[in-house]
Amino acid sequence: MMILGLETSCDETSAAILRQDKSGIHILSNVVASSAVLQSKYGGIIPEQAAREQIKSIIPVIKESLKVAKCKVQDIDAIAVTQGPGLIGSLLVGVETAKVLAKIWHKPLIPVNHLIGHFYANWIDNSPQFPCLGLLVSGGHTDLVLFSGHGKYKYLGGTRDDAAGECFDKCARLLNLPYPGGPQISKLAKKGNSKAFKLPRPMLDSKDLDLSFSGLKTAVSNLVKREDTLIVQSPLSAANTESQAMSGVERLFDLCAYIEAAIIDCLVKKTVAAIQLINSEELIVAGGVAANPKLTEELKKALPGINIHVPTPSLCTDNGAMIASAAFFTPDQADSSLQANPNLSLAY
Ligand code: KG4
Ligand code: ZN
Repeated sequence: MMILGLETSCDETSAAILRQDKSGIHILSNVVASSAVLQSKYGGIIPEQAAREQIKSIIPVIKESLKVAKCKVQDIDAIAVTQGPGLIGSLLVGVETAKVLAKIWHKPLIPVNHLIGHFYANWIDNSPQFPCLGLLVSGGHTDLVLFSGHGKYKYLGGTRDDAAGECFDKCARLLNLPYPGGPQISKLAKKGNSKAFKLPRPMLDSKDLDLSFSGLKTAVSNLVKREDTLIVQSPLSAANTESQAMSGVERLFDLCAYIEAAIIDCLVKKTVAAIQLINSEELIVAGGVAANPKLTEELKKALPGINIHVPTPSLCTDNGAMIASAAFFTPDQADSSLQANPNLSLAY
């Protein structure tokens, strides 16, 4: 079986073709066009601009995915598309394109929840066992979820305010680092000492599985108001942060190391508590922040004996392959009249 997966929920336009055989799910192509560099000029995503870029990219990206996979339209059994959550303008481009293609190519159209899609990146060339704990850490979501089977999941806890990726992005913005902030902070953190600062780690010791990151962002905001030398000078660019580094601004590196360590500390502590609660030996990590190597390293240290599944970095951030992967498990949910839903959540 072969599925074409389309993902357009935010600033990435992606089309992927995946094949399922007896040995599992495999990628034939996974083409991603991103407008992140364009968005980074403005320090974040401008929804209308993201949607305009989606329109420009969607057809070339689909054509390229067919070319790379060396397959014809006739070879494809179904089309899968992100239904939501996400930015409505961006989602509409993928959903409406998928509807038209499904109609003219006579293919079933399978809607996929973007959040579930992230988890299913772990089923590509891999097959985690149930029950397993899911840790979703993206730009918009931070959730701990118990999966007892395909399509069977229960919400255990999550952030009460900002998501982990959002905290990285907002702290980076306060420091004048380019968007997306997670990889930038992570890169500078390598040169810093995470113990040089002492800022709050909200809810670290709360007895539940909830998290909170907005206090950390506020603490960073207050700190940079007092110490404006921490802010990267304009113009915004990664190259600039390197040159500031050359001039010996070690405190910026220390702060980045602190931010990264604080976010990871909170995630690891609540993940360990959740694993103990459900008594599972499997953990699936998903979402853009899962591309952070320090997070994987710390999870491995804290959870010896647990099978930890983390997709390769290109499958952690938004991509069409994860959407196609999820659709292999819900072929019966095909719906040619599906509507984009920016507020779709996990139906816990
Ligand atoms: O899953 P994703 O691509 O989009 C959403 O669905 O939100 O996640 C994007 C988020 C951004 O906040 C970005 O800063 C973060 O993932 N991210 C990282 C890393 N790579 C991406 N955060 C920390 N370390 C990274 N290496
Ligand atoms: Zn995502």
